[in-house]
Amino acid sequence: MKNWPEPYRIKMVEAIRLPPREERERILREAGYNLFMVRAEDVFIDLLTDSGTGAMSDKQWSALMRGDESYAQARSWFRFYEAVRGFTGMEHVLPTHQGRAAENLLFSQIARPGFTIPNNSHFDTTRANIEFFGAEAVDLVIPEGRDIHLDYPFKGNMDLDRLETLLKEKGSKSVPLCMITITNNTGGGQPVSLANIRATGELCRRYGVPLFLDCCRFAENAYFIKRREPECAHMSIREIVAAMFACADGATMSAKKDGLGNIGGFLALRDGELAARLKSVLILKEGFPTYGGLAGRDLEALSQGFEEVQEEDYLEARVGQIARFGEALKAQGVPILEPTGGHAVYLDARGILPHVPAHAFPAQSLTAELYLEGGVRGVEIGSLMFGKTGKDGRFLPAALELVRLAVPRRVYTDNHLGYVADVAGEIVRKASRCKGFRIVEEAPFLRHFTARLEPLA
Ligand code: F0G
Repeated sequence: MKNWPEPYRIKMVEAIRLPPREERERILREAGYNLFMVRAEDVFIDLLTDSGTGAMSDKQWSALMRGDESYAQARSWFRFYEAVRGFTGMEHVLPTHQGRAAENLLFSQIARPGFTIPNNSHFDTTRANIEFFGAEAVDLVIPEGRDIHLDYPFKGNMDLDRLETLLKEKGSKSVPLCMITITNNTGGGQPVSLANIRATGELCRRYGVPLFLDCCRFAENAYFIKRREPECAHMSIREIVAAMFACADGATMSAKKDGLGNIGGFLALRDGELAARLKSVLILKEGFPTYGGLAGRDLEALSQGFEEVQEEDYLEARVGQIARFGEALKAQGVPILEPTGGHAVYLDARGILPHVPAHAFPAQSLTAELYLEGGVRGVEIGSLMFGKTGKDGRFLPAALELVRLAVPRRVYTDNHLGYVADVAGEIVRKASRCKGFRIVEEAPFLRHFTARLEPLA
């Protein structure tokens, strides 16, 4: 079967509206050409993120009603604990309100100046939390993972040679842990093979360094393993999930992704001593260790979500939709990062707007065009986000100019995404009209969230 349909039908719908062209022009001008500043109501197709934006199932909505809101030792906590322990195999589970809170909790205790924490690619909140506590965050993805047009099945894999060099040089005294992000969001939502997770785990053990998974999209990663790693083709998704976590000593998760929930996260650990230490910090930062900043109903919805996300026919439809979206874009002549990953399609803005120089922000220009042309919201991953001014005042562009179109889970149909592909195709055909942008206002750090821009004449 080429296309597997969604294994669910739609019970409730939410109206969306495309404001007329002149209105979109005004809205974008008033937002300083920054899509983070546009009201969600004024967006027609919102592909800003797949985080917390998914649709819950009827079973999740009914689970909300069973939420036990007791402060301590609530029934919902025990369901959540069993669910997380079930798929991670880890004894100690600390609930948090979202992923970055789990990262903050962990790194507040183990990161300090002089320490280095490697990852295939750190997500920006992970990197920021590590750097906040004075440690160094290092990205060690394989070289194939940096070539956006290379077709390779596991572009999220860890570069084992570079990891070994780092471990040899620094040793367990200054590398408190190693991470692998599944799937590798920063690198295009690309998967990591089970063989690579295993080899990383063995290497870490040899050097006495614990391995942690940043497992936001663990089920999507398991699906790619089943499809692309011949040795795993016979395994069920749940068996693959268990095998991935068996290699790790701990995990952080934003359950707003593969928890199929709108909020939530956790830190899971095997080390009881570390867990006990972190629990007191959890009480300070998030809440009592049996709710950690979440309502009982959230814990219920997530427990159900962790089950549903591991169903193979759900994953087939989910990852299949992203692949079809990528094909639709390519059919319109839109260059994209290939192969498509698990949760998003990344447009190659340099390929679409080759005449816009890096200092005129081609990827940000493309996000503006997507909104102007079709009311579509994506996110810039280019020189507005990562570009810097050097000591000599020279502009230092980002390595890549990408626009991420992240697809919320169970929210849009192929028809919605086909429309987005048509919009992107129109932009490719009219590309010469876009001259780029300049910044008129920016914050000293994380400027892409709030910067104001204006179009170049
Ligand atoms: N790790 C990864 C790999 C992520 O993608 C995210 C969030 C986090 C950690 C942090 O989780 O948002 O719950 O605090 N990614 C979102 C995105 C924001 O749009 O990719 P959080």
